[in-house]
This record gives sequence, structure tokens and C-alpha cells, in this order.
Amino acid sequence: MKSLVFAANWKMNQAPADAEAFMRTFTSQYSRQQQKRVLFFPPAVSLHVVVAAVRQRGDLETGVQNIHWEDKGAFTGEISATLARAAGARHVLVGHSERRHVFGESDEATGKKVAAAARAGLTPMICVGETLEEREAGETLAVVLRQLRAAVAGLEAAAVATLMVAYEPVWAIGTGMTATPQDAAEVHAALRKELIAITGERGRAVPILYGGSVNRSNVDALVSVEDVDGVLVGGASLDAEGWLAIVRS
Ligand code: 13P
Repeated sequence: MKSLVFAANWKMNQAPADAEAFMRTFTSQYSRQQQKRVLFFPPAVSLHVVVAAVRQRGDLETGVQNIHWEDKGAFTGEISATLARAAGARHVLVGHSERRHVFGESDEATGKKVAAAARAGLTPMICVGETLEEREAGETLAVVLRQLRAAVAGLEAAAVATLMVAYEPVWAIGTGMTATPQDAAEVHAALRKELIAITGERGRAVPILYGGSVNRSNVDALVSVEDVDGVLVGGASLDAEGWLAIVRS
């Protein structure tokens, strides 16, 4: 049985009280399952709640949704990897499509954030994915490989072996349109090949998650695909019962 990672990206939802209620329900009903890791990416204002809820649980982990690439300084409104680590985060999403497409984050900025995360001891989950236009132009693999290479450009090969990758086609995020298992298989295989080219055999163990309109009906088919090592879920991770159903799949 392969190891699976189930990651909940709450985006700009779940105030501290909501996060507390969610985690109470979740932790009381979810018991550790072999070969499964469950990650939570709450908004930064609710991080402390999730950190406290997962403290006694080696199978549950938490992270932040974004960081700045500097370690500290006069960057009003930003959070550094060092601050996030000190507040209890262990992971960070980097290069999420909403960062790239809503906030104009470049490949270069993504690379600087990945390097900052590695310096601070946070595990980056590098998100890559093509737009519909890029897919229709036949550029999917070129786009995701460019994004991956740029994201890890500042890392030693050994550090690349310790991170996670998420393939999230932009056209599938929050739209109800999911990549078919065949679409995912093709992209995940290309990402795996690239990870092995960068890090050698260690690249086989780097988790590559799929994200984009994952729900309890399609999760089984997606995680059955070779090289799909888990899922990164937005909307369907927002209610505890629904998330429990996905994580138990
Ligand atoms: P949805 O699951 O809402 O499509 O969001 C996917 C996503 O962006 C997770 O990071």
C-alpha cells in the first residue's frame, strides 16, 4: 500500500472559532490510519488553533498558505518562514495558483520562497499547474516542469528530496472540473521523472499530490493513479464531516 498525504487548504476561510469547532469534530472522529498523513493549511490567524489541536497527534500536521522570502524586516502584512515555524507551522504552500494568478507571483518569487522555507525548516509544498489556455495550446508539461525547476532552483538536490509537490491545474480549481485520472497520470509521471533527474532515486519518495475540485466521489479514482500520492483539497475540506469522508477513502 502506498503512503498518502491528504492536505486541506482552507484558503481565506475558518476563523479561529470555526477552526476550533472543526478540529474538535475531526480529532474526535479520526483515528490514525497506517500510511496516511493529514495536513492542514489554515489561514494564519487560525494557525495557533490547529497547532494546538494536532500537538498530541503525529499523524496530523499543519502549515501556512504563504510566506515572504525574507526572514524578517519591514514588510508590513507579510509573514516569514521563520515566524511561521516559530508559531508551530511545519509546512508551507508555495506557488499556489491563486498566488500566481490573483497576486501575480512569479516563478522567481516562488523559488525565493522555497529557499526561505528550507532555511527555516518548513517543508514547502510546491504547487504547479497550467491554465486552460496553456492546456489547449499543448503546453501543460512544459509549464509544470518550468514551474517546478524554477521553484527548486535555489536548493541542493538533497533538499529537493524532502519537499512535496502538488499538481493543481488552474482550470480545475474551484470549478467542479477535475482532471481525469489519465490527465493526472501523464502530468504526475512527468513531474516524477523530473524529480528523479534532479535528486536521483530519492525523487521516487517525494509526494506528488493532485488538487482541483477533489471531492469524496472522485478521490478514490485519483489516488489510485500511479504517482498520485495524495490530494490537496480546497472547498471540500471546509466541513469536518466531508473532510473525514475524504481522508478515510
Ligand atoms: P478546490 O478543491 O476548491 O478546487 O481547490 C483546490 C485548491 O486550490 C487546493 O489548494
